Amino acid sequence: MKQQLLSALINDRSKHPERLNATPERVFEVLENVLGTKGQKYAQTLKGFFDGIGNRDELTGDLAEKAAAFLVKSHLSQEELSAISQQLFFSEIATDEAIDLHEQYKIPVSTLEKDLVPVWGEGCWLMDTKGKKYLDMDSNYSATNLGMANREIAVGLYNQASQLISMKEDRVQIARTRFFKTIMPMMPNGLHYFYFQNSGGEAVDKSLKIAKAYTGSRHVIAFKGSFHGRTHGAVSVTWNEKYRKPFGLDHEDWVHFAEFNNIDSVRDLIEKTGSRIIILEMIQGEEAGNRAATQEFIDALFELAGEKGVLVIADEVQTGFGRTAVKSGDWFACMGYNVIPDIMAIGKSFGGGYPVTAVVTRKEISMAMTGGYDGSTFGGNPMAMTSAFIATRQMREKDVTGNVIARSKQFIQGLENLSESFPFLTDIRIRGLMIAFSLGSEENVHAVQESLKEEGVMASLSTGEYLRLLPPTIISREETAYFLDALGKSLAKIC
Ligand SMILES: Cc1ncc(COP(=O)(O)O)c(C=O)c1O
Repeated sequence: MKQQLLSALINDRSKHPERLNATPERVFEVLENVLGTKGQKYAQTLKGFFDGIGNRDELTGDLAEKAAAFLVKSHLSQEELSAISQQLFFSEIATDEAIDLHEQYKIPVSTLEKDLVPVWGEGCWLMDTKGKKYLDMDSNYSATNLGMANREIAVGLYNQASQLISMKEDRVQIARTRFFKTIMPMMPNGLHYFYFQNSGGEAVDKSLKIAKAYTGSRHVIAFKGSFHGRTHGAVSVTWNEKYRKPFGLDHEDWVHFAEFNNIDSVRDLIEKTGSRIIILEMIQGEEAGNRAATQEFIDALFELAGEKGVLVIADEVQTGFGRTAVKSGDWFACMGYNVIPDIMAIGKSFGGGYPVTAVVTRKEISMAMTGGYDGSTFGGNPMAMTSAFIATRQMREKDVTGNVIARSKQFIQGLENLSESFPFLTDIRIRGLMIAFSLGSEENVHAVQESLKEEGVMASLSTGEYLRLLPPTIISREETAYFLDALGKSLAKIC
């Protein structure tokens, strides 16, 4: 036990090059996490030992030795000692120091989420620096659909990094070849040409470039309520002005916003602007609170596009990889609508949590990008391709689309039941496991999110009065029931 404690306090770099030694501050925090107020007594003695160093300095070997010997000799149970070692191992740095350094050094492009600091995950569960466990209903915006940690991907990445860590986009490589050998059955018919990127925004950006190169059109029709990412191009086709205005992108003469689910609006804009490119999310997520396109609208849109020679880009960055499945094998939202876009932007879930995204298109369109038109240092590098290869294989093996359909039904039933008991829960919007419902006001949403946290559920996504859920696509029946039960308790609290 002493050895276990010691190796959590003083890092063995040969085994864990990613860690530092523990700080006194973290040791005190973990004692409190595990032992509650009893921990303060132990912390008091240890403070005497650690007198010579700062609270946030790394422990030295002799201080760690003294501390471990003291804890082992104290009257703590094996379980308590083992929990202390485990928590110290998951993080050697205290919560407050982590938050302080983020506040000090991170450019505040978004609101810093510091209510909990995750350090460990397994399947749909995570644990924070305080040792509390939470059921994850965010999946990191749908990026960690196969769970918060993934042993097979970890081993694959370790092996790949040991063999060949990077290779520029242009060159033939084996990791990418393995991916090409296996992915095609998941793709919509004909969409077999990939250009790999590192973020969803980049994939959208490059989709626009390819569409422009192919059509020769500089005008693009996007939709009110859309969200496409934060690169210059992606943000230009994003509806909410607050994302565009600070950067002078609120009056781009090449972008035209149509009404979602309104084919006349699209037709008018095509006539008026001569645009030959349309970009859309078939289920508008982030900004619109999961507003799904109607089947009639999608049918009319694709018919109109065909008639006018307009190219359709589907942004499937969030909706892809089974998230919005309505029948078995719907790996992308377009499959559920029975249409095939000309270009698709894919990402998030693609690498099981490791960053890998892509533009996918037909051969004929891909040919518009002749040598030298574009390039990427890291796009589709061997690490990215290894994670994409393993993650997509797991999606097929775990029958992710089957699970999404079954859990989606369970969510619909559970939420409808809750809306009967709590009439302020209205407007349930579900496509696969892309879920949102109104709680009447933003205040209610925040109150329920706080209460859910107390119940051991992390559900941090919202759009105005809508609470949004993006649970991992592997979520089980029992975990779904756990969430619905916690939601019921949280709704009761705000009545
Ligand atoms: C539909 C859609 N497109 C693009 C993006 C941008 O992806 P990323 O954050 O990986 O750049 C997002 C992110 O939420 C998204 O939801």
